[in-house]
Amino acid sequence: MIGRLNHVAIAVRDIAKASEVYRRTLGASVSAVVAQPAHGVNTVFITLPNTKIELLEPLGSDSPIAKFLERNPDGGIHHVCYEVDDILAARDRLRAEGARVLGDGTPKIGAHDKPVLFLHPKDFCGTLVELEQA
Ligand code: CO
Repeated sequence: MIGRLNHVAIAVRDIAKASEVYRRTLGASVSAVVAQPAHGVNTVFITLPNTKIELLEPLGSDSPIAKFLERNPDGGIHHVCYEVDDILAARDRLRAEGARVLGDGTPKIGAHDKPVLFLHPKDFCGTLVELEQA
């Protein structure tokens, strides 16, 4: 059911510093910072030949990644995002398999203006999984 790896998201405390690590030290193609107030994060996308890295920095006081950074003060891998052809069909199949879809199961519009859902890490090998409609 899942298709391509769309991106790996890394939570960071300082997105400017993290961008420089990817731009200068790793020699990658790094986007400008984009604020996503509806999601409580600032984002940067790093384009690699086969996938992307999404840097996430907390934005605002109730950012969904604030707790993660409390537990992981150096930052760390926050989620992986897989593409699916039909996000509602994927949701229904996963629920039928007993997997937990976060929130009320209604897809939200994600950072790429496409519908996304998140799946409970306890059902997926300890990893928060984002599904994005391809
Ligand atoms: Co993501």
